[in-house]
Amino acid sequence: MSDRTPIIAGNWKMHRDHLEAIQLVQKLAYHLQEEDYEGQEIVVCPPFVALRSIQTLIQSDKLPISLGAQNCHPEDEGAFTGEISVPMLARLDVRYVICGPSERRALFAETDELIATKARAVQKHDLRPIVCVGEVKEEREAGKALDVVVDQLRGSLQGVSADDPDALVIAYEPVWAIGTGLTATPEDAQEMCAAIRTELAGIYDASTAEAIRIQYGGSVKPGNVRQLMGQPDIDGALVGGASLSSEDFALIVGHRR
Ligand code: 13P
Repeated sequence: MSDRTPIIAGNWKMHRDHLEAIQLVQKLAYHLQEEDYEGQEIVVCPPFVALRSIQTLIQSDKLPISLGAQNCHPEDEGAFTGEISVPMLARLDVRYVICGPSERRALFAETDELIATKARAVQKHDLRPIVCVGEVKEEREAGKALDVVVDQLRGSLQGVSADDPDALVIAYEPVWAIGTGLTATPEDAQEMCAAIRTELAGIYDASTAEAIRIQYGGSVKPGNVRQLMGQPDIDGALVGGASLSSEDFALIVGHRR
């Protein structure tokens, strides 16, 4: 067992308005047991418009759940119509910001360089980036998955600090497993997460790499989470679809029971 604190995060993507969001977190808290909060971090990443409501709920009910945002703009403020800055997120007690998930890479043309810029902006305000990497199906089939992921990692971590290893989380999300019901086998996911850790040792140093948490994402469900989390280099899960069900997300969070 490593000393790394497991981190289970729900990425709701563009689902749930602020009222539905409150209900979802209330139900989640109802399903969770005290032991589920111990020794692991639980994060919910709702759409921006629900952050304030959930911040208030977390505060009033003293829930040991952290807030995450799904995106940010790297500038502190300015004429960037439609964008949200990290200081704005900080004011909402947001602790984590997802940087470079596959949809933003594919649909919004985010480059490794932009993702690194966002991750640095997140850290500048003492929030924590969850930096996402992952290969597409063709790349895996061509035997290039490792090269692609290592490349993304190097580019997306340019200038990103790991002085506090807890303040940087990596998410390995094979694109072909996202929202498809296909999951990487625990062995394949482990192989990639181990390779990511080796690369982190090159970018930072060995002891830092040992301390950085690596999540797996891609069709994580109550039925497969235990095996995935049982792998030595998998320290958490970034959960999409299943995090929209309070029952399923509670089962995923409670996988140690
Ligand atoms: P699914 O769990 O729906 O496959 O989504 C994974 C994901 O993209 C989380 O960021």
